[in-house]
Amino acid sequence: MLRILSIRLSKSPNIHPMAMKKEQPLFCGNIEPQERTFTSIASTPDFHSRILPTIKHDHLELVSHSQKIFTSTNPDEQTRYQNQFTWELARHLIGEELVIYPAIIASLPDGQETADRNRLEHQGIKEKLKIFQDLASTDPRFVPTLRGLMDDFGIHARHEEDVELPRLEEMLSKEESVEMTKSLERTKVFVPSRSHPHAPVKPPFESVVGLITAPIDSVADLFRRWPGKKG
Ligand SMILES: [Fe+2]
Ligand SMILES: [Fe+2]
Repeated sequence: MLRILSIRLSKSPNIHPMAMKKEQPLFCGNIEPQERTFTSIASTPDFHSRILPTIKHDHLELVSHSQKIFTSTNPDEQTRYQNQFTWELARHLIGEELVIYPAIIASLPDGQETADRNRLEHQGIKEKLKIFQDLASTDPRFVPTLRGLMDDFGIHARHEEDVELPRLEEMLSKEESVEMTKSLERTKVFVPSRSHPHAPVKPPFESVVGLITAPIDSVADLFRRWPGKKG
């Protein structure tokens, strides 16, 4: 268990220079669930992928986890995928806010407006995720809450994939885009793995909330049930 709490310096966030100029603080990471899952629904991008396929893959994984929950009739399995889904979505949203949206602001003529609109959409998704992550899988609100969340997420994700990220990609060289993927994946290791809708999300990420919630989430993750794991 202590392995999760030990920070390897090589895992420290490496934020894209277009996204952040200031180095990130080091605190406990949430590496393990990231290592133990990846679905086969899409070819898994690696650190050499451009940012658009990386984000698309994240979106597909989230849809896949939600489908597991919708189709399962086993409350234990639903709980395991609820934890996995929450872990993936919380980190995805904050990763975009810290790495992708600052780059959009820096690169696109309407970048600030675009990032503000996306942050607002994220806020709505986070508030629904906060409700969903705390529901028992036997609660009658469990599936309807996830459906509402996925409706919002689907619209938001489609717009990112079809409009905003292609526009950003046009402004980036292959190297810059790959570097952004690396920054995103490294950043996700160090951000909170549960939804905290009122936590500040704009870089530099050095708020007390961020410093406190990420390690607390990581410790709590040790006691949650995960797909493919006993106990
Ligand atoms: Fe997003
Ligand atoms: Fe996204």
